[in-house]
Amino acid sequence: MLGNPHQYAASDPRAREALTTLPVYGQLPFVPVRATGCDIITSDGRRILDLYGGHAVAALGYGHPRLLQAIQEQSERLLFQSNAVALDVRAAAAEQLVAIAPANLTRVFFVNSGAEANENSLRIACMATGRKKVLAITHGFHGRTAAAAAVTWKAANSWYGFPNTPFDVDFIPRDDIAAAHAMIDDSVAAVIFEPIQGVAGAYDLSMDFVQALSDACRSSATILIADEVQSGMGRSGRYFAVDACSVEPDILTSAKSLGGGVPCAALLTSEKLSALMQSGDLGSTFGGGPLASAAILAVIETIQAENLLDNVRQREAEIRQHCLVGPVTEIQGRGLLLGLVCDRPAREVQSALLEQNILAGTSADPNVLRLLPPLVLESSHVRRLAQALAA
Ligand SMILES: Cc1ncc(COP(=O)(O)O)c(C=O)c1O
Repeated sequence: MLGNPHQYAASDPRAREALTTLPVYGQLPFVPVRATGCDIITSDGRRILDLYGGHAVAALGYGHPRLLQAIQEQSERLLFQSNAVALDVRAAAAEQLVAIAPANLTRVFFVNSGAEANENSLRIACMATGRKKVLAITHGFHGRTAAAAAVTWKAANSWYGFPNTPFDVDFIPRDDIAAAHAMIDDSVAAVIFEPIQGVAGAYDLSMDFVQALSDACRSSATILIADEVQSGMGRSGRYFAVDACSVEPDILTSAKSLGGGVPCAALLTSEKLSALMQSGDLGSTFGGGPLASAAILAVIETIQAENLLDNVRQREAEIRQHCLVGPVTEIQGRGLLLGLVCDRPAREVQSALLEQNILAGTSADPNVLRLLPPLVLESSHVRRLAQALAA
């Protein structure tokens, strides 16, 4: 499945990257040269239906006129200024994010990546509680920085790399309500969880488990952090996946789809936690820059103008109805963050689909193929996927 850079001509970017970048990524065997709608056009002229969206980033697909216009106009007007000055476009992005977030989350801190959003959330939790332990959920993924990776399942014994974690860490077995109640107490600064575990294969945590996390956090004054880096910004069929239950996290993180392809991330939190923060406690040079802010605004406006939450729910229903075929034995996840559980290795299914010019993702579960397509996906795309799976 993955390309071997040595088989390519010296001018091929795969051979050149292999000589100039760190050898840390397994790369797919094609080179995109442009993209439009939900299609990637490759250097050898293939047109590939993208059901992976660059790790869930391409919320509006490629070349969406509203996003292009917003970033072009903003670049011409003011490409960059830092948080040393207030900006109309940053204020508007924060206002719009707060408007779509759970009601208790009224404050925004802008950063650049999902890991950075989680890193700062964990810092806020430690600062606010003075506690030294953080709990996460088995199979969860939260990023590659020191604190975010410390709460990422199985990072410690593979790629963590640092000699120590910044705090004590333990993992609650996913969906184990009794363990949640037993483990969350007043020694715990924060519990971090993904409502739908993306890297794990779009595994949807049970609502009862999420409610138990929330209840136990409330009774021990522990900070509840919802990592919606992958599940947020409409991907679950609601703005945020926690909207499907009555749980209000103390902090929610968003990235990936947030800027539709312009790198950006944010954490949202409550008035109560915001009131504990002072000038200098957190910071970021690029976070909340004008270009990122303009992109965030364009993504939110487009989700609303094009009823993309409805679109996500309709496409999910179609996928559930038509794609339980061929190797697929079960479909997990929510909205357009779906895991197709296969009766054979997901990599084999991924390769077979790619031969039919359809790109899907894999996951940490070797039998789960992951779909993270643009939220603008159409019925015709679902039909193509169903036919390709059945072939
Ligand atoms: C749930 C979740 N949190 C955090 C991250 C890290 O985000 P980033 O790669 O932007 O640092 C990811 C990335 O896959 C993710 O899926």
